[in-house]
Amino acid sequence: MKVETLRWAGASLEMIDQRVLPAVFQYLAYDSAASVAEGIRSMVVRGAPAIGVAAAYGVALEALRLQARPAAEFQTGMEAGFAVLAASRPTAVNLFWALKRMRTVLEAVRDQPAPAIAQRLLAEAHEILVEDIRVNKAMGAHGAALLADGARVLTHCNAGALATAGWGTALGVFRSAVEAGKKVSVIADETRPFLQGARLTAWEMVQEGIPVTLITDNMAGFMMARGEVDAVVVGTDRVAANGDVANKIGTYMVAVLARRHNIPFYVACPLSTIDLGIPTGADIPIEERPADEVRGFRDCRWAADGVNIRNPAFDVTPAELVTGLITEKGVVRPDEAAIRALFGE
Ligand code: MRU
Repeated sequence: MKVETLRWAGASLEMIDQRVLPAVFQYLAYDSAASVAEGIRSMVVRGAPAIGVAAAYGVALEALRLQARPAAEFQTGMEAGFAVLAASRPTAVNLFWALKRMRTVLEAVRDQPAPAIAQRLLAEAHEILVEDIRVNKAMGAHGAALLADGARVLTHCNAGALATAGWGTALGVFRSAVEAGKKVSVIADETRPFLQGARLTAWEMVQEGIPVTLITDNMAGFMMARGEVDAVVVGTDRVAANGDVANKIGTYMVAVLARRHNIPFYVACPLSTIDLGIPTGADIPIEERPADEVRGFRDCRWAADGVNIRNPAFDVTPAELVTGLITEKGVVRPDEAAIRALFGE
């Protein structure tokens, strides 16, 4: 089954509800910037590139919704739309990358009638979606070359089709390797507390027919010590100019373990996830999510009443622990000169 994480349905955006996968496969429909922002905040859609694509459609939907209003009201409404989307989640830079791109388009056609502006914004959102899949396939080809036939590759969280417009970043590397005739098998960390590994990565790999073994996060060291992991490939939400990598909480732990066991640690990273405006990982905003996600899961609560809870949703892996960044332009060392060169600087 082809996973269409987000799809345009004529007058609305439909997104797979990732909160209820794999038990339920359903699309929810969105028709405004505020509703898309709520879909991002509540993690109906998640994963850095998918969040960016959703935000682009959020802007287009807002323009369509407001296109019959007087010009001043249209402009004020659009500003409110940008603001609500920008406030939905803080860490994945793809959100802000997409909003900036949509704003550039809006500025370029500002003098046109609102319906024409709305159509131009919608076309840009479509283009961002198509581009994302193209970029993922290019990254996949570069990344697949790094994996030996028979490689057993550990991944954390879900950096798959569900986290993008399609194909995936880290899981895209596995898809491309399999497409190239390599036998790779995947070890999926469960990824507490939101269980993206257990619920989403495992589901995606099973759908795809790629062998996958699910482990809890605290089993990664055991597997590495036993010689059962040949490489690690993860996605990322934001890479700082010096190559520090923010990704799902627990990634740093995996990177430290990989270094201890001399296992290559790769990060699949489209250029839209690199933030040259942030010098080091220390400056990356880290989202703190609700305590209930740690207290239990859905309706089941297991932590003692009254306990203090922390729930940082991301951590930062220092560049020195990263073997290479797999980008659509090739695999680079995570250092500032190599990263800037990707942008022609
Ligand atoms: O909180 P999430 O599920 O949005 O976090 C997702 C991740 O951390 C992914 O690894 C990252 O966005 C890369 S997705 C291609």
